[in-house]
Amino acid sequence: MDNLGAVMVPEGIDIQRLLESKRLSGTLRGDGSWEYHEGMSAIDVINEVECEVVIETTPTELKRGEPGLSHVKAALTAGRHVICTNKGPLAIAMPALMELAHHNDVVFKFSGTVGGGTPVLDFAKKCLEGSRIKSICAILNGTSNYILSKMGSEGKPMKEALAEAQKLGYAEADPTYDIGGFDTACKLVITSNYVLGTSLSIKDLAITGIAGVTPEDIKKAASKGNVIKLIGRVGGGAKVSPEEIPVTHPLNVSGTFNAILFETDSAGDITLVGKGAGGRETASSVLRDLIEIRRTFAR
Ligand SMILES: NC(=O)c1ccc[n+]([C@@H]2O[C@H](COP(=O)([O-])OP(=O)(O)OC[C@H]3O[C@@H](n4cnc5c(N)ncnc54)[C@H](OP(=O)(O)O)[C@@H]3O)[C@@H](O)[C@H]2O)c1
Repeated sequence: MDNLGAVMVPEGIDIQRLLESKRLSGTLRGDGSWEYHEGMSAIDVINEVECEVVIETTPTELKRGEPGLSHVKAALTAGRHVICTNKGPLAIAMPALMELAHHNDVVFKFSGTVGGGTPVLDFAKKCLEGSRIKSICAILNGTSNYILSKMGSEGKPMKEALAEAQKLGYAEADPTYDIGGFDTACKLVITSNYVLGTSLSIKDLAITGIAGVTPEDIKKAASKGNVIKLIGRVGGGAKVSPEEIPVTHPLNVSGTFNAILFETDSAGDITLVGKGAGGRETASSVLRDLIEIRRTFAR
């Protein structure tokens, strides 16, 4: 509670000054020369500041979805449109949040939660109108894909490939979220609910990560012309697990790339490939959502 505080500048916040404040004091207080409100929480800001859109970007937490879930609920209840890059609230309570947004007649957008800057969700929702999507299978976690790629191309053991991913800033100090398949599962839940209209939460998925994949498994797959990838699948059930796919398969992307394949009844199979994460890329998705909200309400 000691560190609670918020900056409020009606004319708009100077981002350089904000960053400098954080650097100087470790908080937004800075040198004390601007409108810093000691003790003010994010929920206070959401409720008290007059605004049209709330952008939620706190860290993803998958047990209770907090603090993002409370922020999103408060914002939707207060009649704000919400843009969320945080997967936690959606993995835990997406159907309820969609319902809350609908009830309050506001827009809830979350393009950045799946695919970073690659427009996966709205591509499937809007550009494939008229075609039925029969199934979705995807590589949605760059860290796991990087590790499996390195194990395959350089014969590195998982521990070494993981250490390299951590050194390059791809993997967290605690990589369970990526390697355990939970990040892929969150993104699959969000995609399935948004695109296929399911009502899944992360608890509905069978999840197996890549921790059990050995260099021998990868060699054996290669001898058959295959690679091992961490794949999320919906269509006849929903699951995340390592799978063997042919090297020629469109999902066989290397490094930190993401790929998602939509199997449709009339447009055939369509695969999107792109950078699945990155601050700048994810910020581009927030801007996209903001423009869409502006366009929707400017009519
Ligand atoms: N970066 C990406 O490539 C990417 C891609 C897709 C989705 N996302 C998601 O987008 C979100 C943000 O990612 P990021 O990379 O920007 O994370 P980050 O660097 O860890 O930033 C999180 C921010 O949330 C603030 N915060 C933490 N707890 C808070 C609380 N209780 N109340 C208010 N603010 C709080 C932190 O403030 P302090 O600095 O003061 O702790 C920090 O500014 C995450 O949920 C992530 O999973 C990120």
